[in-house]
Amino acid sequence: MTPAVASCLIDPDRLVAQLGSAGRYFSPEVLPECESTSTLLLERARRGAPSGTLLVADRQTAGRGRRGRLWLSSPEASLTFSLLWRFPGELARLAGLSLAVGVALVRALEQCGVSGLGLKWPNDVLLEGGKVGGVLIELESEPASVLAVIGIGLNLQLPPAGEDDFLSPPAALAQAVAPLPERHRLLAQVMIELQAVLERFADGGFAVLRNEWQARHAWQQRQVRLLNGTRVDRAGVCLGADLDGALLLRTESGVERCLSGDVSLRSA
Ligand code: BTN
Repeated sequence: MTPAVASCLIDPDRLVAQLGSAGRYFSPEVLPECESTSTLLLERARRGAPSGTLLVADRQTAGRGRRGRLWLSSPEASLTFSLLWRFPGELARLAGLSLAVGVALVRALEQCGVSGLGLKWPNDVLLEGGKVGGVLIELESEPASVLAVIGIGLNLQLPPAGEDDFLSPPAALAQAVAPLPERHRLLAQVMIELQAVLERFADGGFAVLRNEWQARHAWQQRQVRLLNGTRVDRAGVCLGADLDGALLLRTESGVERCLSGDVSLRSA
């Protein structure tokens, strides 16, 4: 059993107790502070850490968001963690993983009493249109498998204005549910839903979760622009995600697909 670190907001033993039968899939470790749970977990994964290793940090000093952005968070106001998961087979089978993780997050938050949730391609969890959570997926090939470090940040309270480089307006769970779900219960529910979703994803890819993602898609039929840096790459009507997680956009040339994680989606 992992020794409890008295000063941390998450007690691993209490978390394991809340995980019930899903507890056997996870090895949690908590840290009062680190640069980034994903950076640290990636290093450990390369040294052979087992699938299911979960790193939770109260505070990250260099938390990372998508596309090289910073992800700033403060201990009481957020939940920040990374999970290592190994998938058999090749990298190509993991297309759409960040969308699948979004499905798990929405399921978990709803189980904890949060309503008004939606998903935005490729990896944002929205609450009443604002960004309440983000997912950062990092993948590396191994001889017979692919390792995924799944980094997740959830806002419990609104971050102070200007604290982060938010491209969507920020939102927080405290806006939608009172009292806030207890931190161990929330994290345990996320892990329970993640385990179920990752298992289905490993068998059938994003295709088996696509309908559920589409049902949660917050920007369906919305006029959007696809940005590559500051350049408008394409504009059109957002049709959600294809079976492999690619964004579908109806443009003047027909329905186009975009798989690149380097682009971002904006309201037109
Ligand atoms: C995004 O840009 O939306 C993704 C944000 C992901 C942030 C989480 S917080 C825990 C993990 N560690 C990191 O450094 N980043 C991810």
